Amino acid sequence: MNIGNTRAAARVGDSVDAIDTPALVVDLDAMDRNLSAMAEFARDRHLRLRPHAKMHKSATIAKLQMAAGAVGVCVQKLSEAEVLADLGVPDIYISNEIVDAAKLARVATLAGRVELAIAVDSRVGIDRLADALKAAGTSLDVFVEIDVGQGRCGVAPTAAGTLAHQVISHGLRFAGLQAYHGRAQHLRSPEAREAAIQHAATLVRAAQASVTRAGMQCPLVTGAGTGTFEFEAASGVWGELQCGSYVFMDRDYADNEYAKHAPGIDHAPFEHALFVKSQVMSRGASHAVVDAGHKSHAIDSGLPRVWRRNFEFGNGGDEHGILTLAADADSASTPLPQLGETIWLIPGHCDPTVNLHDRFIGVRGGLERGVVEAVWDVDTRGCVN
Ligand SMILES: Cc1ncc(COP(=O)(O)O)c(C=O)c1O
Repeated sequence: MNIGNTRAAARVGDSVDAIDTPALVVDLDAMDRNLSAMAEFARDRHLRLRPHAKMHKSATIAKLQMAAGAVGVCVQKLSEAEVLADLGVPDIYISNEIVDAAKLARVATLAGRVELAIAVDSRVGIDRLADALKAAGTSLDVFVEIDVGQGRCGVAPTAAGTLAHQVISHGLRFAGLQAYHGRAQHLRSPEAREAAIQHAATLVRAAQASVTRAGMQCPLVTGAGTGTFEFEAASGVWGELQCGSYVFMDRDYADNEYAKHAPGIDHAPFEHALFVKSQVMSRGASHAVVDAGHKSHAIDSGLPRVWRRNFEFGNGGDEHGILTLAADADSASTPLPQLGETIWLIPGHCDPTVNLHDRFIGVRGGLERGVVEAVWDVDTRGCVN
């Protein structure tokens, strides 16, 4: 019998020291500052903010984002949208394509319960979506996705007008263009990211021209991520930002070089807010072993960084991490940690790390002396369909 993990790593009111390990811990003060910084950035530029909830998978955080000014959230999967809707998130955009008829029937049902939008990039997808909505008697907003450099979903910009026309010929609402450049997000230099987004903007303008030629207006262009949003914002082309990772800021994003010259931002504005708390469980002559391996943190974007300690994290497998002195550490003044000592890890990639855990432990007052203020479920954990 699978009874799941019913035991949270901590209870509200516990000190940080009492949090069992490994645990997914959110520094709530840092998260709040990240939420406010992005909300303020969008507000100052009169842009809509629709953060990506694929990252945090939490109805609670989605609602905090909306309370800070976001118009709603994005998701990638229908099951994520269904769970967030059940938990009271009122405005959801599935920024992804769905062509399966059974799933589209569920999309149409969901459209009767919340403000819903979806992306399309094929004639077949639009026809099936229209059939499902007609059968259910519901409607939603439809964005035509164009490929702006990722080489993943999306049509060529010149095909946007034809698809937009097909959307309205079914009596559906054409809401605009989905234009997200995932590959640009982690280009390390700001100049490379800026050039990628300037090229993407050229493609978006071509798609807008294609829509105009087909006799329609393009109400909105939506896209952007944590690595490039300042460039989409400066382009004058995008009207809505979909950034997700800014809330937690993982190690891979911190490895980006930030744009000194970027409009409005002169340094990395976001702080690490997501950590895996681990503890030393074994020691060798020149290494220490912590109790968190890649079942506690995703390693698709590289290994975690050790927070505020001069150790390298080495992959010890599913349940272990191996700490050694960092190359620039002075061994005389950097003793290996003791058995039982807490080691905080900054995950390489926040989205799949969150998906490994049942709960967030939210700490107020810092990782050293803070207190557990909240224990939140990872609501859409495992919602991959
Ligand atoms: C379509 C789409 N929009 C926005 C984002 C948010 O990007 P980030 O978490 O890098 O800010 C993603 C992330 O993969 C995405 O796939």
